[in-house]
Amino acid sequence: MAPIPPPVDYNRLAADYARFRTANPQIVRALVEHSEAGPASRVLEVGCGTGNYILALHGASGSACWGIDPSAEMLAQAHARQGSVAFRAGTAEGLDFPDAFFDLVFTVDVIHHVGDRAAYFQEAHRVLRAGGRVCTATDSERIIRLRQPLAVYFPETIEIELRRYPAIAELRRLMQDAGFAEVAEDVVEFAYDLTDIQAYRDRVFSVLHLIPEAAFQRGLARMEDDLRRGPIRGLSRYLLLWGRKPWRTPMR
Ligand SMILES: C[S@@+](CC[C@H](N)C(=O)[O-])C[C@H]1O[C@@H](n2cnc3c(N)ncnc32)[C@H](O)[C@@H]1O
Repeated sequence: MAPIPPPVDYNRLAADYARFRTANPQIVRALVEHSEAGPASRVLEVGCGTGNYILALHGASGSACWGIDPSAEMLAQAHARQGSVAFRAGTAEGLDFPDAFFDLVFTVDVIHHVGDRAAYFQEAHRVLRAGGRVCTATDSERIIRLRQPLAVYFPETIEIELRRYPAIAELRRLMQDAGFAEVAEDVVEFAYDLTDIQAYRDRVFSVLHLIPEAAFQRGLARMEDDLRRGPIRGLSRYLLLWGRKPWRTPMR
């Protein structure tokens, strides 16, 4: 079996990430609506990076918000943006918060980086109040294969991503083992026109650091060529995997 690709150094990517990556508005809307987050809610984003999602969620809901991330450089970018979200260092596997503290705990584009996913879901369950929600925004195999423009121009990314990303069935099992109920999937999509491909030239997408140089240059040349003819169609698509901490502990 092919080896799992090496971890990505987010300290090195942080400045470019802050320049180019933004929150997908459909994810923010789904997080707020499905969890019913409002001004009285407490929300934690695990692996918040430069703060794109938790800042947008705070703006949309008025909830009290926390963001944690292990990368000092990603957190420095988050801190530089504004002060209404509490950003701190931390990892998914050990959440430094009291029991039953949050109404919503979520990750976006993070679960494939988490080494001990069982520990994360147990921790998420612990820090959620009864009836609170957990959400994992990630890519299914189908989404990885149909990524636009990434898989179109850099098809070599597909097999690497399939080795990095956990299967949805595995995540469901881990959530159920941790005690989550009402486990359900939703897919959100956001179409856009790409008129500037600097983020691709700068390899802001971590998987572009993991394909061979020749494959990267070949894909980029095709992108540059197509861009000369007009905007490139992009589609940001995510699977949201939801779960709920039961109101009562089930009888064994
Ligand atoms: C692709 S970025 C996503 C950042 C942010 N959620 C967003 O979508 O803009 C992945 C983030 O996961 C963080 N990360 C990596 N391993 C982690 C872990 N074990 N626990 C929590 N976060 C982790 C990285 O430092 C990085 O900031």
